[in-house]
Amino acid sequence: MGRETWRTRVGFILAAVGSAVGLGNIWRFPFQVGQEGGAAFMVMYLAFVLLIGFPAMLAEFVVGRRTELNAVGAVREFAGGAWTYLGGLFVVIGFVILSYYSVVSGWVLLYVAGSVTGAYVGDAAQGEPPVAAQFFVEIASGWDALFFHAIFMLIVVGIVMLGIQRGIEIGVKVMVPAIFVIFGVLSVYAFSLSGAGEAYAYYLSPNLGYIMANWQSLVPAAAGQGFFTLSLGMGVMITYASYLGSDENLAIDGTSIVVLNTSVSVLTGLIVFPILFTAGLDPETSGAGALFISVAAALGSLPFGRVAGVLFFTTVAIAALSSAISLIEVVVSYTIDEYGITRRKATATIGLGVFLLGAPVTIDTVFVDLYDMLAAQILLVLGGILLMVVITWFHADEAVEELGKGIGDLGVAGSLWIWMVRIPVVVVLLVSLYLGVTGYLEFLQGPFSEFLASI
Ligand code: TRP
Repeated sequence: MGRETWRTRVGFILAAVGSAVGLGNIWRFPFQVGQEGGAAFMVMYLAFVLLIGFPAMLAEFVVGRRTELNAVGAVREFAGGAWTYLGGLFVVIGFVILSYYSVVSGWVLLYVAGSVTGAYVGDAAQGEPPVAAQFFVEIASGWDALFFHAIFMLIVVGIVMLGIQRGIEIGVKVMVPAIFVIFGVLSVYAFSLSGAGEAYAYYLSPNLGYIMANWQSLVPAAAGQGFFTLSLGMGVMITYASYLGSDENLAIDGTSIVVLNTSVSVLTGLIVFPILFTAGLDPETSGAGALFISVAAALGSLPFGRVAGVLFFTTVAIAALSSAISLIEVVVSYTIDEYGITRRKATATIGLGVFLLGAPVTIDTVFVDLYDMLAAQILLVLGGILLMVVITWFHADEAVEELGKGIGDLGVAGSLWIWMVRIPVVVVLLVSLYLGVTGYLEFLQGPFSEFLASI
């Protein structure tokens, strides 16, 4: 059964990186670093990406290339039986992530507009919060947020309906290098700021004592972040790899994708934290607005800041768009195959559903946490566990054989990989899931009930 394949290896790698690089790297990462004690989180995240994310990505690749099917179909064909329900979980996860992802992407669009008009530029009036912080508060909830959430979903739906993903692939080849250039320049700028030294100490030198004392929140946060940024846990990488030829070396592709994707997160931190410290903002309390407030505050005081702002936020918007397309495609292709309806109808219905599910998020930023913790620390991790178990516990021989294609005889490396995923990866994910659920319950009883009581 021949299937259309990626034209070049670089094409595949850039397309996968384009789907993986998104708000997870640029918005969620600095937000998580701030919540979880700076460098301590950074170290855990890097460790998890390497030890858990990379083997998990290879596992998804193997299933995709072997079955040449989308995420849901692949699991059904590869494992069958009750595992078919796992595909349903993927669909639910995609739905939930997309719903708040779109709201945050709406903020990004508002920041593109704000950069054009200069709405977040200016000095603070006496006793008022700085203009950049005020701007965020104004747009993050309410009608603006709802409206731009709708606009973003309309763009996503429009693109997916017209089926111009090929165009996006070409766009990604420009976008990925562009992100590196723009972020490289911005990190040099950040290096020149007075708060840079303090920021690097905070971001780059971990305190072992802190890690030991806080591992219960660090582990689920880092595991969730690893899966989220690498687009793992719901079969997106299965779909991407289904277009790969069997002469391709999956280990090299996986390494390239992991390294490029992680570099974007690391670079984002190198930009955001010097800016935050220079502006005297505490990363811990900057919350969901960290990226938006800090970058806007800095750009507001820069020569050509507005031009840079338009450039930066447009780049982020394109990154968010390509990720959103990879998310909705899982749901759309499943619906088309399963219910035999047209692409147009499926996309429009799902788009509307996602819009409605995301609408409450525009009431208050506490809903971002409500959705995000559920999706990243519980659902993605659960999807990841089940996927890893079915591949390495029940179909290890096929997995090793498939990985070997394009590489040659794996020798002990094959068993090492399987055993690495079988036990350590699954155990860490199980622990993360447990801690993620307890953390979520605490959140529901704490900040979320407080919010409910305050309205
Ligand atoms: N990885 C993307 C980001 O960092 C988000 C994303 C796209 C995603 N597709 C996914 C996350 C599939 C989980 C699963 O923004």
